[in-house]
Amino acid sequence: MRVYKIAILPGDGIGPEVTREAVNVLQVLSEIDSTFQYEATEFNWNSEFYLKHGRMMPEDGLDMLMDFDAILFGAIGDHRVPDPVTIWELILPIRKNFKQYVNFRPIKLLKGLESPLKQNDPIDFVIIRENSEGEYTNSGGTMFHAEAREMAVQNTVMTRQGVTQISEFAYQYAREHGLTKVTNATKSNAVIHAMTFWDRIVEEVADKNTDIKYEKYYIDALSAYFVQRPESFEVVLASNLFGDILSDLGSAIVGGLGIAPSGNINPSGEFPSMFEAVHGSAPDIAGKGIANPMAQIWSAALMLEHLGRKDLHDAVLAAIEEVLEEKKVLTPDIGGTASTKEVGKAIARKLRK
Ligand code: NAD
Ligand code: IPM
Ligand code: MN
Repeated sequence: MRVYKIAILPGDGIGPEVTREAVNVLQVLSEIDSTFQYEATEFNWNSEFYLKHGRMMPEDGLDMLMDFDAILFGAIGDHRVPDPVTIWELILPIRKNFKQYVNFRPIKLLKGLESPLKQNDPIDFVIIRENSEGEYTNSGGTMFHAEAREMAVQNTVMTRQGVTQISEFAYQYAREHGLTKVTNATKSNAVIHAMTFWDRIVEEVADKNTDIKYEKYYIDALSAYFVQRPESFEVVLASNLFGDILSDLGSAIVGGLGIAPSGNINPSGEFPSMFEAVHGSAPDIAGKGIANPMAQIWSAALMLEHLGRKDLHDAVLAAIEEVLEEKKVLTPDIGGTASTKEVGKAIARKLRK
């Protein structure tokens, strides 16, 4: 029987608090289902590690991760280390070197949760975010410190290959899931030249997939439509930065950051994919034991689906929904008084039933 090798990077702040509960769910699954076995290896590559060793991970850190089937990642970010260091030395090298060019972010109103929006239609779509280039490139970033003329320049890099592969993934995802429409999030109205290029490539792919409807909105208007008619979206295709912003907005209309999961996917399977909640290390609540672990538990479920166990993904999501519907054991972000651990345990109890 296959034993999945999972690398656990607990991270900073609430990262370890919610990741512990996600790993506990994996443990429970392995106890109740003998066909699922895993081996977890923890790597404490976080801000504490940086303060001791002067780097976010060992020099051969990526090589060490290479042989795992998947990575479960807890958010990073700590006031003692500048954010660009934690991000450019850990999360972005993993996403980029492991060609995790798809950032997969479901926006789904789970049973038992209410949207803050005054509308009753189901909200269930997915943001497919380009995850390897775009606005997140190390090109430029030049800062000129000449006193009065101080300025910074940053380049957006969009490549034909990069835009093509994410667009093709979005269409393939739509087709495989019986969805009917892809929405392109853009800003090509002559403001950002790279987005004009993005549209051209996205539309080349759209033209080859005419069985699926294509629409495009400028990111400013689209942000408003997320609030006004979220039920109208199925697959939202976005560049790296636009997808980042849309994912926090998307999470807010279905219950908040405490619920929102994500997968950084390497579709070819050449490298491990990485799963993490959309949220960050939440320094404002870190150490209080009240972070909502659902986002990270759902992310672990996405990892199981990626590893071929959609049945286990569905079981975990059903357990989360049961806990939400009972409304008895919820963290404060969604109106309860329970702790991270109590919510983790409640989900585990539903799975054992
Ligand atoms: P954040 O997502 O950490 O927090 C935003 C707000 O959401 C806070 O009020 C926080 O308390 C709340 N929140 C987030 N997750 C929650 C949860 N599970 N349960 C309950 N409430 C939750 O965003 P931020 O404050 O902008 O960033 C904090 C740090 O995290 C920064 O250093 C940032 O760079 C980093 N960050 C890391 C990642 C990552 O590693 N994947 C992602 C986003 C931000
Ligand atoms: C996310 C985060 C990251 C991003 C940061 C930490 C670089 O906000 O995963 O959404 O912008 O991709
Ligand atoms: Mn983000």
